[in-house]
Amino acid sequence: MMKLNLTTRLFAAVFSTAMAVALAMGVFTHINLNRDFLGYLNEQALGRLELALVSVTAGFKENGNSWDFLRERPELWGRLLRPRVPEAQAPAVKTSPAELTGATRRFTLLDVDRQRIAGFPQVPQTAIERPVVVDGLTVGWLVLAPFESVSSGAEKRFADAQVRTAWAVGGAAVLLAAGVAFWVSRRLLRPVRRVAEASHRLAAGDYGTRVPESRGDDEVARLGHDFNQLALTLQRNEAMRREFMADVSHELRTPLGVLHGELEALEDGVRRLDAQALRSLKGEVLTLHKLVDDLYELSLSDVGALSYRKAELDLREVVGSTLSTFGERVNGSGLALRLDLLDQPLPVFGDERRLRQLFSNLFENSCRYTEAGGALQISARREGERAIVDVQDSAPGVLPEQLPRLFERFFRAEPSRNRRSGGSGLGLSICQRIVEAHEGRIEARPSPLGGLWLRVELPMHG
Ligand SMILES: Nc1ncnc2c1ncn2[C@@H]1O[C@H](COP(=O)(O)OP(=O)(O)OP(=O)(O)O)[C@@H](O)[C@H]1O
Ligand SMILES: [Mg+2]
Repeated sequence: MMKLNLTTRLFAAVFSTAMAVALAMGVFTHINLNRDFLGYLNEQALGRLELALVSVTAGFKENGNSWDFLRERPELWGRLLRPRVPEAQAPAVKTSPAELTGATRRFTLLDVDRQRIAGFPQVPQTAIERPVVVDGLTVGWLVLAPFESVSSGAEKRFADAQVRTAWAVGGAAVLLAAGVAFWVSRRLLRPVRRVAEASHRLAAGDYGTRVPESRGDDEVARLGHDFNQLALTLQRNEAMRREFMADVSHELRTPLGVLHGELEALEDGVRRLDAQALRSLKGEVLTLHKLVDDLYELSLSDVGALSYRKAELDLREVVGSTLSTFGERVNGSGLALRLDLLDQPLPVFGDERRLRQLFSNLFENSCRYTEAGGALQISARREGERAIVDVQDSAPGVLPEQLPRLFERFFRAEPSRNRRSGGSGLGLSICQRIVEAHEGRIEARPSPLGGLWLRVELPMHG
């Protein structure tokens, strides 16, 4: 099958619609012409018949009460039929429809014996008759053969005019179809075509592709807008993927490099293979192990990647029991702990393992990034429909401009110092994923205690 583009199809659709309408109009008019117009013609002819009757009767009387004058000079028939009316009215009669359609040519004059004297040669069954009465005596008949079809003379002209109109309508339909197709393809289809072309480029991997956005709020404008959004998202995702791969390989390379260096030193005999060297090697392997574990966790915590096994639980309990595993650490760091838990249950619908992971990451950070002798303050309470857990600690804090970046993967506020403490910058981004998977929110702000304040908000259950 031939492939048609949208413009051609539109043209065909508009054109065929216009033609169908014109055709229907033509057929309809034709039917009406044959029915109504015929009735009209015969009505007119009948009126004219009455008028002719007067003239014919007068002609009979004036010519010696005989039809002989007509038998001898048939050409007088035409003149006889001319209406006998005052001059002033004559033009009106001449231009009457019956005159124009040649109704008089369908009149026949018969004598008393029904023999034709003059006029139309055929007298059909359907003929309409009027007696010619002189002094109370019927001396002949004036007969009208009614129109049976619209075919002669003026009617033909009328039909021709119809054909001309049909041509004109057809021409107008072509112009209209061309105009509409042109307008539509300019105004509506061009943006669609642009999106189609751009999609093609996008599919080929050109994520920088954009289409010019048209004004307005119609579907076409929205299509362009949505396309650009889609391209932007793909572009961002692609950039994020590259960045992530680069970050991951960079993060893996560092401990691997250290490990490699140490092993080489041992091989070359620069260092002795003793318990301390082994401990150091093991430490590097552990760092690597943790990093790989975190990366795995991160990929799992992506909303949708893991089916969270949620159940109704008491958030106070999760916070409390997680904190209890940190007892040693908190004491060891010399931090003064202040715990402020609501004395009613805080029901939330969540995955206990994940929530524990969330809070241990936060407590771990507080222990790790708070100077000895500082304070750690934890509170859990309810605010309307939300359960709120605040974790605050004392100095050091995070620079205000770095606060929003804390949740980025591999982000460390003080890279050199934190690397020594073993952090890879994944903890808080894992926390953020977990909170989002619970339809909650996590925020970082400076704490009045001098350090960092992390607030977790989760929707209450029931
Ligand atoms: N309680 C805190 N006080 C001060 N700084 C903090 C605190 N928590 C986090 N930070 C800063 O935010 C950075 C990001 O924290 P995050 O937990 O994401 O990574 P990390 O602790 O460095 O590594 P990981 O948690 O993956 O072992 C940390 O490196 C640290 O600089
Ligand atoms: Mg951390």
